[in-house]
Formats: sequence, structure tokens, C-alpha cells
Amino acid sequence: MLRFVLLMSFFFSFCLSVKSQNISKDSHAALSSTPNFDSPSVYQVTQPVDHSEGPMWDGRKNILYYVDIHSGRVLSYNYNTKKVNFITLKGAVTPVIPAKNNENILLVGLDRSLVALEWDGENELGTQRTLTTVSQQFPQSRFNDGKADKRGRVWIGTMGHENAQTRSLDSNQGILYKMTRDSLIRPRVEVAPVNISNGLSWNKANNKMYYIDTPTRKVMEYDYDDEKGEISNPRIAVDITKYTTLTGNPDGMTIDQDDNLWIALYSGGSVIRVNPKNGQLLQVVPIPARDVTSVMWGGPNLDILFVTTSRLHLTENERKVFPAAGSVFAVTNLKRKGTQTYYADLVDSVRRSNLIDAILQNTNELFAPAPEDVNNYLTVDNSQKKRTVEKEDVPFWMAMINTIRSIF
Ligand SMILES: *[C@@H]1O[C@H](CO)[C@@H](O)[C@H](O)[C@H]1NC(C)=O
Ligand SMILES: *[C@@H]1O[C@H](CO)[C@@H](O)[C@H](O)[C@H]1NC(C)=O
Repeated sequence: MLRFVLLMSFFFSFCLSVKSQNISKDSHAALSSTPNFDSPSVYQVTQPVDHSEGPMWDGRKNILYYVDIHSGRVLSYNYNTKKVNFITLKGAVTPVIPAKNNENILLVGLDRSLVALEWDGENELGTQRTLTTVSQQFPQSRFNDGKADKRGRVWIGTMGHENAQTRSLDSNQGILYKMTRDSLIRPRVEVAPVNISNGLSWNKANNKMYYIDTPTRKVMEYDYDDEKGEISNPRIAVDITKYTTLTGNPDGMTIDQDDNLWIALYSGGSVIRVNPKNGQLLQVVPIPARDVTSVMWGGPNLDILFVTTSRLHLTENERKVFPAAGSVFAVTNLKRKGTQTYYADLVDSVRRSNLIDAILQNTNELFAPAPEDVNNYLTVDNSQKKRTVEKEDVPFWMAMINTIRSIF
């Protein structure tokens, strides 16, 4: 452990020295040795939260959305103004995916529910609606990473409950779901069981999908049929256990225009770049935080790698070693670019769709739920400056549908 901490302090001082080199360069100071001005620079761009996760770049607004999972906060970092705003939902939040046809609607995972919120990233929270609730059979599980594919279908996974103290996980309770407009009520199970459903990426040709179930320490590759939205032929593309010089588990992931994967290493203090075609480790970017949670390309040119981190599991002493842990970092000068963000094409408005109305009408007859309850089970607490969304239990009719599903 001590070795690890020392190693991390080295990483941290390395990052600081990258910055001071830059200052020397600007002031044309005479240097005895030739420093490498061409290495990546790592900047802290936000204040720390306990567990920043799920970075999602919206190029329409130059905003990076991210979450602080356990405090229920959805945050926005405005690249132009450098300001951070947030709203607070009641429950564990992740991921956050902006809607394709309405840039003021965000889809947010809230415990096991996917909710649609009206939020422009700056001002007050508007209307909200729960779109669906999954994994009735694992009541303690919750959503983890998720992303939209090129056609706006949402691939979103869950994980079993993790004990906050012992960190033991209810195993085999995670599921990777696929949601489309037509399958919101019955999202399709794509991969099950998994333990901690995590990073997702598609290659440039859009015929391969990459997926991480964290404890396996592997990245799986699937053939991807974009038209049907189907995955097949799983195989191991990257096996982190083979990189014997690295510690940590693969968490969030993104891809660049050369089809190389960028993977956040939780308890590995770094982001790595790997070639999924041959499993080769191409680059290690040290981050001044031990627990690196996720990565996403952003900035107007998609050449800044935003990196989220956590301080949740650090001891008091470790927090002194990593004072910026929990912040979002920006890595520049990587000389790579990301692919465009895909947005969710599930709903265009936060109001109920005809489809849901139709289902409600049918279920009305069978189970007699009160439709207005269904529409209002998220309510805004206007008494606070910070907005709080209360989420009630899964509505009865939805629970019935899910129960029926799990029987057949
Ligand atoms: C380093 O220098 C470049 C070019 O002068 C500048 O764009 C960049 O913001 C600088 N970075 C730091 C850390 O000062
Ligand atoms: C989940 O974790 C448990 C406990 O380590 C393990 O036995 C099981 O094989 C894992 N499941 C998957 C799908 O990897």
C-alpha cells in the first residue's frame, strides 16, 4: 500500500511538473535539460464531489454533464463559462444522457428507474417523468453506466447493491438493457448476469461494441448490427490482468477516432489507451486521484479528455495525498480526438407519450391505478435553492407488468 501511495505521489508531482514546464516555456527560461513539452497536461476543472461519474459531453451547448452518484446530484460543467451548476434528485443517479430532439431534456438513471427531466444545465429544474423501472427481481440493484448508440437507442446497465462499509457486492444482479422508444416499458435484456455493468463504446465503422463488467477486469467486444441494434459473438478484446505493471479495475470507457479505447482504472490512478484489435497497451495517463471512474471526449474540437474521479473510498490520509480526488479533470495535448456524442432518442418531451397513455388505459382496467399519480410521482421541492426531486416507489401498474414479465 505504501508503495502504491508513493507511486501515486510521484504521479501527482509529475502532473504538477507538467504544468510548471509549461510556465517555463512561456517565460523562455533557460533550462539545463530539454523537458518534454509535448506530453499531456492534466487540469482540475471542477471542485471535488464524493464520486464524480458518467461524464457526457453535449456539443450543442459546450456542456459536460456528470453525476455525483450517491448525493443524487446531476452536475453541468459549462466549458465556456467554466461554471458548475447542479440539480439534486432523490436516489442514486447515473448515467445522464441528453435527448436527441430536445437539448433541454436529460435522461437520468435514478436507482432502477430511467427518468426524463427538463433541465437546460443552468437554470431551474422543470417537469420530470419516470419512463421505466427495471430489475424488479433485484430491488436493491441500481443503474450504473449507460450510453446512447448512433440511432439513439439507450444501452444501460445495472449493478447489485454494494455495502458502503465492507464494499461487498450482491453478485450476479447486474443486467445490461437496451431501451428503444417501443420497448421503454419492457427494455430488452442484452447481457445477464453481470456484476458491475460499466463502460460502453462503439467503433467508428459502428460494427463493433465494447463493454466492461468491472470485476472481470476485461473489455468484451461484440459484433454490432446497427440496423437491428443487436450484439453477437462476444470475445475478450482487452484483459487488464495482462498489464502486470498496472493496478485497478476498468470502469468507464470511451473510444477515439483511431478506434483505440480509453479506459478509466478505478484504484489504478490512471487512464489507459489500448488497441482492442490486439490488446496492446499504448499509453498510460496518470491522474492525480487513485479512483478514476470514467472518461469522455469533449471540448469544441473533441480533443479534450474529461476524466471523472472519486474520493469516496479514500481514508483521511489518502485524501491528503489526493486532495483533488473527486474532481473532474481535463487532459489536453493528447493529440487524439474522440468520436461524436450520441444522444438518446427515446422521448421528445417530458409529457406522457401516446404509448404510455395507451398502456395506462389498458392497465387502468386491470389494476385501476390513478393516472395522475403516475404522472406526478416525481415532485419538486420548491422550498430549497437546490432543487430536490422526490421519487416514489415504482407505480403499481409498472410493477405488475414487470412481475408478469419475470414470470414468463
Ligand atoms: C501551455 O501552453 C500552451 C501554449 O502556450 C497553452 O495553450 C496552454 O494553456 C498552457 N498550459 C498551461 C498549463 O499553462
Ligand atoms: C460475479 O461475482 C461473483 C463473485 O465474485 C462470481 O462468482 C461470478 O462469477 C461473477 N459473475 C460474473 C457474470 O462474472
